[in-house]
This record gives sequence, C-alpha cells and structure tokens, in this order.
Amino acid sequence: MESTLVILKPSTIQRALVGQVIDRFQKKGLIIAGIKMMQLSEDILREHYAHLVERPFFPGLLESMRATPVIVMCIKGKDAVEVVRGMTGATNGRKALPGTIRGDFSMSGQENIIHASDSVESAAVELARFFSEGEIFDYVPALMRSMYASDEI
Ligand code: PPS
Repeated sequence: MESTLVILKPSTIQRALVGQVIDRFQKKGLIIAGIKMMQLSEDILREHYAHLVERPFFPGLLESMRATPVIVMCIKGKDAVEVVRGMTGATNGRKALPGTIRGDFSMSGQENIIHASDSVESAAVELARFFSEGEIFDYVPALMRSMYASDEI
C-alpha cells in the first residue's frame, strides 16, 4: 500500500468544495489515513514549493496558499500516488480533463483545488513535512475485501 499527500487548497475551502473532493477519494476506495486543518507558514511553503521560488507566479502562489487554512490529507491505497494524480488532473484547471477534480472544479492554474504528490519519493518527503508522528493512522477498513482481490493487497 502506498501513501500520498493531498492538500485541499484555500480555493476549495472558500468555495465550500471540501466535502465533494473528499467524497471522490472515499468513493474511489482510497483510505484517509490522516487529515487535519492547518494555516501554512511562508517557511513551509518556501520548502514545499522550493522548485518554484524563482517563477514569476511564486508570490501569487504564496498569497493564495495562505489565504485561508488548508486541509492536508494522507491518502492510502494500492498505487495511491498514481491513482490520486490521475484523479487530480493537469495543473491548469482549464486543461484538466472533465472527470478529474481540477477538470470539474477549476478554471485556473493557481486556484486548482488540490495539490497531490507527484512520485512515491516526494510523497514520503511531503507527508513528513506536513504530518507529525502519531497523526497518520494504520487501520484496515471493514470493506477492504470488497475493494481489492486478496492478491492485490
Ligand atoms: S510547472 O509549472 O510545470 O513547474 O508546474 P508544477 O510543477 O505542476 O507546479 C506548479 C504549481 O504552482 C502552482 N501555480 C502555478 N502553476 C502554473 N502557472 C501559474 N500561473 C501558477 N500559479 C500557481 C500550481 O497550482 C502548482 O501547484 P501544486 O500545488 O503543485 O498543484
């Protein structure tokens, strides 16, 4: 089982889409192993978006990500990183395919609803950045046997 980081961005909070976005992950059969609301500091955002600090849109990205608290989630499942990225869609909501979260809920590259880790390696780093020990839970949902074949888990 893989774990990945999802951030429900301020646009999701402002537009009251939290329930609908989380609902998609749960209906897919992904497990919420951790979830909390937090106000992101400039320091944590500079670390998280270190590869983007020189980009012209970075000041706007910082402001946007600090506009309200965000909700961070640890989402777990087989191949969770790839599955969640597929559900997320392209960075720019205008280019994201219908049926994806950004494709259905966003018209923007900045206000694009969620962040999702792009590899297993970055998921591990990002989860450690946003969650402390004891905030991610290891439990087996009762419906697990209805979601996977026994040789898939
Ligand atoms: S890039 O441009 O290919 O390096 O994009 P990416 O690595 O996918 O990450 C871009 C993140 O910056 C946010 N952002 C923008 N991207 C593109 N254009 C503009 N104007 C812009 N403004 C903000 C974008 O939402 C991506 O955030 P995350 O959290 O990674 O989805």
